[in-house]
Amino acid sequence: MPRFDWQYGYQTNNRIVDLQHKYFLELMNRLHEELGANVDPIYQERLLDELLAYARFHFISEENILLKYLPRRFAHQQRLHEVLVQELQKKIASMKAGQTTAQEIVHFVVEWFFTHTVTEDVTDFLPLS
Ligand SMILES: [Fe+2]
Repeated sequence: MPRFDWQYGYQTNNRIVDLQHKYFLELMNRLHEELGANVDPIYQERLLDELLAYARFHFISEENILLKYLPRRFAHQQRLHEVLVQELQKKIASMKAGQTTAQEIVHFVVEWFFTHTVTEDVTDFLPLS
């Protein structure tokens, strides 16, 4: 899988959301490069902890922006975020138990970026600056 670079089409035009999405893209690239069979399992687990912590922070941040500027979209995004966090938690637990591969987690994160982040978020945050 090649590295993903930031593209114009990913922009929401909300400065804070775009800043965080750029970091999310970086994290996704790092996970792809650094999660693998030959990597220290403690380091792998900590990388996944970093991903989960970042996702939680990012979602709270987005929800607060919505609450302030676009409250009618708040509940919808909050529901989507909850589902993503729960799925991620399940996948991480499953990887720790040896039932899910690192590759599956990377695949999940890539799909998340290209579905939720660059579709739902772009739609919701477009009117904001
Ligand atoms: Fe987002």
